[in-house]
Amino acid sequence: MAQLQGQVAVVTGAGHPRGIGYAIAASLARQGADVAITDLPSSADLFESAKSIENLGVGSLALPCDVTDSAQVQETMARVVERFGRIDVLVNNAGVGVGSADFLELTDNDWELSLGVNLRGVVNGCRSVIPTMQAQGGGRIINIASLAGLGAIEAIPACYTASKFAVIGLTKQLASNYARDKILCNAVCPGSIVTQMHEQTLELIAEQEGISLEQAQQREDAHIPMGYSAQPAQVADAVSYLAGPSASYITGITLPVAGGMSPGL
Ligand SMILES: NC(=O)c1ccc[n+]([C@@H]2O[C@H](COP(=O)([O-])OP(=O)(O)OC[C@H]3O[C@@H](n4cnc5c(N)ncnc54)[C@H](O)[C@@H]3O)[C@@H](O)[C@H]2O)c1
Repeated sequence: MAQLQGQVAVVTGAGHPRGIGYAIAASLARQGADVAITDLPSSADLFESAKSIENLGVGSLALPCDVTDSAQVQETMARVVERFGRIDVLVNNAGVGVGSADFLELTDNDWELSLGVNLRGVVNGCRSVIPTMQAQGGGRIINIASLAGLGAIEAIPACYTASKFAVIGLTKQLASNYARDKILCNAVCPGSIVTQMHEQTLELIAEQEGISLEQAQQREDAHIPMGYSAQPAQVADAVSYLAGPSASYITGITLPVAGGMSPGL
């Protein structure tokens, strides 16, 4: 079922082969879309990952791009249009999880990085594709927020929670502003997904609580009604649904992909 045949997608922060971004890019490619992937210029895997996407039988492009730099993001989207002629789907996936769960220990740098990547990075992506989507007569924007954007969880740094709440606000505002342009804008809110970032979070919890990584994972599993942390492909399935024809009348939603886990406070 190549439901996205003839369409062009861009996924940010998709260089790492075990990350959610790469899984999303692969899922969109399996639906037939040409997929441009971006990641930090320092990403070691970006070009290899684009090759793996191409091996799925679609066009792909690897574009080093720091999402906090609005000029780089504009240039990146322009290169996608130059190569593929359009942009139908933008997935703002790039994100960072930094800082301590102790609010008073968070540094200016933690706040700048969290808001710079997790919020301003999404703003930069949206700003640079909306005119193209308007000219085309529509498009889909899918922002990867977090369950931490729907409620506060004690072990999560405040800078991360605040940045993900902000992304959800932005998503709803853009959904409202651009509905008549047929630009649908939704947020996906992953719970606990097995990636590099997840490993870092577990390490932080293990260190703070003086427990092993395995014990930290067991504690986390105990809070997940389905009893386990998901694979990136399970988030990618939800994104592909929101990008596809079955979601043609859905905009402004926040979709938890969290095995039944509730957001916190
Ligand atoms: N893993 C989880 O449990 C989980 C849960 C909820 C939400 N999320 C969100 O999912 C998204 C993907 O996370 P992941 O778990 O795959 O983590 P990850 O660290 O594997 O992937 C994040 C990617 O973003 C890239 N990135 C970071 N800063 C960037 C910048 N300035 N410009 C461009 N790219 C940049 C990184 O290089 C990396 O490839 C993030 O937005 C994250 O907040 C993850």
